[in-house]
Amino acid sequence: MEAAAQEGISVQDEAVDKSKFKECNQIAFYRRQKLLHPGKSSYRALLDSVALSDDNVKFQIIHEENKVLLQVEICELEGNIFRLKINEAAPLRARYEVPDVLIKEPTTQRLSISHKEAGILVLKSVNEEYKLQVTANPFQIELQSTDGIVLSMNSNGLLYFEHLQPPPSDSKTTAENKEEAASDSSKEKQEDLGLWQEKFGSFLDIKAHGPSSVGMDFSLHGFEHVYGIPQHTETLLLKNTSDGDAYRLYNLDIFGHKIHDKIGIYGSVPFLLAHKPNRTSGIFWLNSSETLVDISTKAVAEHVPSRSTAETAKQRVLPRTDVRWMSESGIIDAFLLMGPTAFDVFKQFAELTGTQALPPLFSLGYHQCRWNYEDEQDVKAVDAGFDEHDIPYDVIWLDIEHTDGKRYFTWDKKKFQNPKRMQELLRKKKRKLVVIVDPHIKVDPTYTLYSQGKDKGYFVKDRNGQDFEGICWPGSSCYLDFTNPEVRKWYADQFAFKTYKGSTNILFVWNDMNEPSVFRGAELTMQKDAVHYSSWEHREVHNLYGFYQQMATADGLIKRSLGKERPFVLTRSFFAGSQKYGAVWTGDNTAEWEYLKISIPMLLTISIAGISFCGADVGGFIGDPEPELLVRWYQAGAYQPFFRGHSNMESKRREPWLFGEKNTQIIREAIRERYVLLPYLYTLFYRAHTAAEPVMRPLWIEFPSKIDTFGVENEYMLGNALLVHPVTEREVRTVSVLLPGSEEIWYDFRKFKQVEAAGTLKIPVTLENIPVFQRGGTVIPLKTRAGKSTEWMIDISYELHVAPDTEGYAKGELYLDDGHSFQYLHEKQFLHQKFTFHKQVLSSSCTDEKGQYLTTCIVERVIILGLGQQPMSVATCLKDGKEKEVVFTYDTKTFVLTLEKLALNVGADWEIHIK
Ligand code: NOJ
Repeated sequence: MEAAAQEGISVQDEAVDKSKFKECNQIAFYRRQKLLHPGKSSYRALLDSVALSDDNVKFQIIHEENKVLLQVEICELEGNIFRLKINEAAPLRARYEVPDVLIKEPTTQRLSISHKEAGILVLKSVNEEYKLQVTANPFQIELQSTDGIVLSMNSNGLLYFEHLQPPPSDSKTTAENKEEAASDSSKEKQEDLGLWQEKFGSFLDIKAHGPSSVGMDFSLHGFEHVYGIPQHTETLLLKNTSDGDAYRLYNLDIFGHKIHDKIGIYGSVPFLLAHKPNRTSGIFWLNSSETLVDISTKAVAEHVPSRSTAETAKQRVLPRTDVRWMSESGIIDAFLLMGPTAFDVFKQFAELTGTQALPPLFSLGYHQCRWNYEDEQDVKAVDAGFDEHDIPYDVIWLDIEHTDGKRYFTWDKKKFQNPKRMQELLRKKKRKLVVIVDPHIKVDPTYTLYSQGKDKGYFVKDRNGQDFEGICWPGSSCYLDFTNPEVRKWYADQFAFKTYKGSTNILFVWNDMNEPSVFRGAELTMQKDAVHYSSWEHREVHNLYGFYQQMATADGLIKRSLGKERPFVLTRSFFAGSQKYGAVWTGDNTAEWEYLKISIPMLLTISIAGISFCGADVGGFIGDPEPELLVRWYQAGAYQPFFRGHSNMESKRREPWLFGEKNTQIIREAIRERYVLLPYLYTLFYRAHTAAEPVMRPLWIEFPSKIDTFGVENEYMLGNALLVHPVTEREVRTVSVLLPGSEEIWYDFRKFKQVEAAGTLKIPVTLENIPVFQRGGTVIPLKTRAGKSTEWMIDISYELHVAPDTEGYAKGELYLDDGHSFQYLHEKQFLHQKFTFHKQVLSSSCTDEKGQYLTTCIVERVIILGLGQQPMSVATCLKDGKEKEVVFTYDTKTFVLTLEKLALNVGADWEIHIK
């Protein structure tokens, strides 16, 4: 902060001021759309225009008043996905269609027309499970499954499409213009509608292409629980917005953001999930301009069609959630993900936007960050502190002060005289360095990145065609136009070792301020009338800016290793698909209990929107946590996907050993638990990478028919096996934990004891740890102990925790590879073992014969929980049939069988027989 203050930048004080940010009713396109109320739609489908091809069904719809024609395109995509695209039939100029987010052109399937009569068109999906019923007047579409209507579109008549028009001066005669100018009230009205320009405070947004807003309503039939559309500081369950602000999707840098607010922060994923006991569905609204989402759940009387002629039609009252999407610009491009399970919906979303990149193993360890670690000496001392206090950690981070005057890719020559030497020291310790690389570039002709960027025309332009200049950390700055593929390539090349002086292959990257943050800009971001590559206005691409920076950065790290090594890039701003490029965190939270509490629903929401690798700053970025809060935050963070302690410049130092011996001990234990759990976590990431399963999951995903789990956000599942309930309140002695499923067995993860019964239980807690339970039916792989960092742990042996279900059955898996390269992909160098426990036999077998990874590492210990009877004997049995007696201990109180000193190769097939 000091340096920023020297340069006259006091963004932090400015930003807390809410008047810097818009309320919904200060957003012109929202006000315009809200003039359209639910009712009969003005659109009518021209069913004579229907054209069916292998890829889609196309037809036109007409607006009854302005007579503008829109082109509707409906596709069925492979895997139970439908796509609805609506664009102007003959736009004045092309409208923006989001590129680069879909991983490929989706594979279409041929819909067939099952029925066409006056005013109705019925289309059938390939597998005949779904029907799309298009009604002509008013235009609406119903998507029905074999068990009834799932979703309807425009059933509230809120389809809204502002067609592009020539500017008023072109389209009107001079006389008309004069007349308009004379009428003050009409001018006021124009301004109020913000059609061609819009004011906010002292900022004027000039809309060169005029109004272009689009919107539509979707009704989710039978659903009253909806989730997703991150990022907001809100509950897991989306709230009704009828009496207040809509959920806003507009990437903004809000320092000290408030809790329970629907304003958009940092990142946006326009993906919503709806769940009811027998079905999960998703709506992906592919639009990167500012978007608002209204949600309203109500009970409605629905008509249930009679099954036979004898039966009379019935009415029943069902919940229905109406979701209204409103975007400032672009087209309507909606993907309807039909599940039917939540895991199917995750796969469908990944088919469109990709899966989580497999993180290098080190990045799942603990990260120590601060704004700032001052100099090389400081880095050395902090690093040594971890060893002195016997606390594992993998990465130390450098914030903006490490650079030469906030010129990214450079080093402050006094503080970091020899960055390579510093990295060599870390390398010897088997640790890594992450440095910050922001997207703004200091205006300084002597700074190569600036001069090259300027010469090549790589910066975003203002509306007059000059390089857009804004203020950020370095003072006056230009912003690289990452939407341009050539800029991305050039940027990626900046990470080459010979170009990025002082960098080595243990240096990884943190992209911050990429909403983008512009300190004195409208809402602290870039003017919407700034101009990008191909003349697109910033308003079209705003929510994609950070996505593209992370894409280019990840690409740069891959390239510098000649395609061999997996990158690690943390980004603050994100969009749908950011999971392909690395990790995200929730930005500038505060060191208060409420922020620890809200971090759980925030991370769950990001996770189910496809981005598994996410975390919140441990301890809270702003302010100073009381020691108890810090301890509780470490305990929660240890069981969350991205685990980093971080603090603001004005916060007191916060290394884990600064809070007294007792707290150090507890934090050490929490971090060690994390390291011991890494084999399980890494396996979960492999599943996120290959099967799109979120690592951190809301309970309802694992218990889809248990309504009592649908709103739970104070605990979660880590994979399918662990239930974690962080303690988020001061000085509590007990917490109320919901262990779902009457037919489930749960075991205390640390004491191994079976919990008496499922349900809501009062669990006693001490400061030592937080409640964690293993679900019956699972096997969890762990390491037998933690090491100084992940790389120190390669040879440490494994341990399996077997937790049988009511049938005495359990299964689990272990994925293992070199932890850093792409060899798992290109050379199939990995191990993937499956563990099953059935009829007193635990077996380890290979799940993928093609995978191979040579290791001498062993499974040393196996702990079998809830074993009703003391065994007579236990023996291991190898593939060659050789049996060997195993010494065991059995605890008659806890019913736990412990097998130690095993020496079973972790990559081999073997069995353990309990007799
Ligand atoms: C804002 C980020 O959110 C924070 O984590 C970082 O420390 C500061 N920028 C300074 O770079």
